[in-house]
Amino acid sequence: MTTQRKILVTSALPYANGDIHLGHMVEHIQTDIWVRFQKLNNHQCYYVCADDTHGTPVMLAAQKQGLTPEELITQVQASHLADFKGFLIEYDHYYTTHSEENRQFSEEIYKTLKANNKITTKTIKQLFDPEKNMFLPDRFVKGECPKCHAKDQYGDNCEVCGTTYSPTELINPFSAISGATPVLKESEHYFFKLGDCTEFLTAWTNGSTTLSNGQTQPHLQPEALNKMNEWLEGGLQDWDISRDAPYFGFEIPDAPGKYFYVWLDAPIGYMAAFKNFCTRNNIDFDEFFKVDSTTEMYHFIGKDILYFHALFWPATLKFANLRTPTAVFAHGFLTVDGHKMSKSRGTFVTAKSYLECGLNPEWLRYYLAAKLNSKIEDIDLNLEDFISRVNSDLIGKYINIAARAAGFITKRFNGQLSTRLHDTALLHNLSAASDTIAQAYQSREYGKAMRDIMALADQVNIFVDANKPWELAKQEGQEERLHEVCSILINAFKILTVYLKPVLPQVAKQVEQFLNCQNLTWADAQTYLYGQINPYTHLMQRIDPQLIEQLIECNKQSIQTQTNTEPTDHEPLAPIITINDFAKLDLRIGTVLNCQPVEGSHKLLQFTVDLGFEQRTIFSGIKSAYPEPEKLIGRQVVVVANLAPRKMRFGVSEGMIVCASGQDDSEGLFLLDVDSGAKAGMRIS
Ligand code: MSP
Ligand code: ZN
Repeated sequence: MTTQRKILVTSALPYANGDIHLGHMVEHIQTDIWVRFQKLNNHQCYYVCADDTHGTPVMLAAQKQGLTPEELITQVQASHLADFKGFLIEYDHYYTTHSEENRQFSEEIYKTLKANNKITTKTIKQLFDPEKNMFLPDRFVKGECPKCHAKDQYGDNCEVCGTTYSPTELINPFSAISGATPVLKESEHYFFKLGDCTEFLTAWTNGSTTLSNGQTQPHLQPEALNKMNEWLEGGLQDWDISRDAPYFGFEIPDAPGKYFYVWLDAPIGYMAAFKNFCTRNNIDFDEFFKVDSTTEMYHFIGKDILYFHALFWPATLKFANLRTPTAVFAHGFLTVDGHKMSKSRGTFVTAKSYLECGLNPEWLRYYLAAKLNSKIEDIDLNLEDFISRVNSDLIGKYINIAARAAGFITKRFNGQLSTRLHDTALLHNLSAASDTIAQAYQSREYGKAMRDIMALADQVNIFVDANKPWELAKQEGQEERLHEVCSILINAFKILTVYLKPVLPQVAKQVEQFLNCQNLTWADAQTYLYGQINPYTHLMQRIDPQLIEQLIECNKQSIQTQTNTEPTDHEPLAPIITINDFAKLDLRIGTVLNCQPVEGSHKLLQFTVDLGFEQRTIFSGIKSAYPEPEKLIGRQVVVVANLAPRKMRFGVSEGMIVCASGQDDSEGLFLLDVDSGAKAGMRIS
C-alpha cells in the first residue's frame, strides 16, 4: 500500500492581455499529465490556475477596446478557459487574480512582511508621460538605441543589437502610449527587502523536502539551482513592489494612489484560487498553507519566470509565516521547426486556431509528452516529425492493436472475452513495467515513459505477427486459440491504455466504454478483463498533412491582418474569422419605437427598439449625425441582438445598432437601410 499524498499543483497564470498559444500549452499539458497521473494513483491532488489580470498592459488594452478592465478580463478568462478545455486540461479550479480572496491575501501578506521588517520605501526617478499623466513601464517608452542608433526601440533592450539599458538612456525617447516626450519624475516606491532574505534563500534553493512517502524532493532542478546561485552570489537587490496610479490592481493598504505591482499579487493568486475552491468544496485550506504543512505544493513554470518563483515567491511565503513550495518545476520554451515561434512564418500558433482547424488535441498532448523531460530544455515542435510520430506511434502501434482484435471478438465470440488465458507471458511483461513507467511520470520524464510504452506496444505487435489471428480465423479447430489470442490482445490494449491515460484522457474514456470497464486506474495495469466488450468504433484518426498546412496558413493570415500597422487610406481589415465566429453574432432587424436625446450627453441617443419578440433599450453614440432623433421613429435598423448588456452612466444598453463610419466619426455616421418587406426580428445571415 502506498500512502495517500495531499498535493497542490499550479501552472503559471497566463496574462489576461493575450491569446493562449502552443507555448502555453506545453506548460499546461505537462502539468495536466502529472496531475492526472497522481489522481490515477489515488492521491488527493488539486490543480488550480487563474488568469493574471493586473498591470498596465491590461489597463491599456481595455482602454483601447473601449472596455473597463473588469469587462476585458471577464471576456479573456472565458476565452482562455475554453482553449484549455479544448486541450483537455482538467483544472480543479480556474480563477482570476482580480478576486476578493486575492485582495485579502495580498493585503495580509503585505502587512505580515511589514511587521517582519521586510518592507521599506525609497524615492525613485522614473519616466512619466505628461499627456497621459502616468508613469511609463519600460516597455512603454520607445526611442533610439544609445548604442547602435536603431530607431523605435523599446525602453529595456534593443531588438537590433541586443544591448540592454535603462529607458532613461534612450535617445529622443517618446511615450508609446501618447507619443509625448516623457519627463523624469520622482515618486515614492515600496520595496520588499529581498537582500535581507539571502541567508534563507541560499538554504531554500539548495534544499529539499522529504515527502510523506519518504522520497526526497529537491526544491529546484540542478540547472535552476546553478542559475539561482549565480544570482545569489551577485547579491540580491531589493524588489520594487509598488506602482503609482493609474494602475489596474490592488491598492496598498494605507498608501493611497499606490498599487501592488502585478508580480506581487500574481503568485498569491495561486493561493486565492485554491482558497476559493476550498471554500466551495469544504477542503481545509490551512492544512495546505500553514508553516509546518505536510502537504505538497508544486509550481510548473517556464524558464523565463524562475526568478519570481525560486526567489521572490519562497521569500514572500517564508516571511509571511506561510509554507514554502515543495518544488518549482521549470520547463524550456517551445520552438516550431527549430525556430522561435514566429508570427510572420505562421508558427505562432494559437490554441484556438489549432482546435478550429480540426486538429485533435491528443495528437499534441502525445507529441509533447514524447518530447518532455525533467530538464529545462527547449522543446521543438517539428511539424513533419509531429505527423509521422503521431501516425506511427499512436495509430500504427497502439490504436491498431484494438482494431485488429476487436472484430473477431465481436463477430466470432459475441463480444465475450475468453476466460481461459494460458499464454500470459506477454501480459505479465506489460504489467511488470508499471513501476518503471510510474517512476518516469512521477519524475516528469514523460519522453522516457512514452518510449517504454511504445516498446511494449512493439512487443504486442510482434505477438500479433507471430500468431496471425486473421489466419487462425480461417483454420479449422483453431477457434479456441483465436479466442485466446484476441483476448490477450484486448487485455494488452487495456494495459497500454492505462499507461497512456494521463496523456490521452479522451481516448482512454472511449476505450473504457468499448471495453466495458469504467474509470481505469493505475492499479488496473495488473488486472485482466474476462467479460463482455462492446463493438469497436474508431478511436483516433491519422493526421492528414494538409491539416497542418491549413493551420500554418490560418495563423499567417490572421497575423498579417493583425500586425498591419502601415498607414493606409482605409481602415485595416480585422483579423480573419471563421464561419463559426460569424455565427456567434446574432444580427436582427429592429423597428425603432422611440428615440430621444440623452440629457447630459452630447453624443448619445436613447432608442427603444422592437425586435419582434421583445423590446430593447439601446444607447447609441450617433446624435451628431441625427440631430432630430424623433425622425428615426418607425424606421428599421440592424441590431446586434446578443451583445452582453452594458451598464452606462445613463442606464443599461441592451444591444447595439449597426452603423457605418470612416476611419473616425468625422466623415459622418450612417444607419443601414433595410429593404421593404423585412420584418422586426428577422435574423441577418
Ligand atoms: N503572468 C505571468 C505568470 C504569473 S505566475 C504567478 C506570465 N504569463 S505568460 O502568459 O507570459 O506566461 C505564462 C507561462 O507560459 C509562463 O510559465 C511562460 O514561461 C510560459 N510560456 C510562454 N511562452 C512559452 C513558450 N513559447 N514555450 C513554453 N512556455 C511558454 O509569465
Ligand atoms: Zn541597438
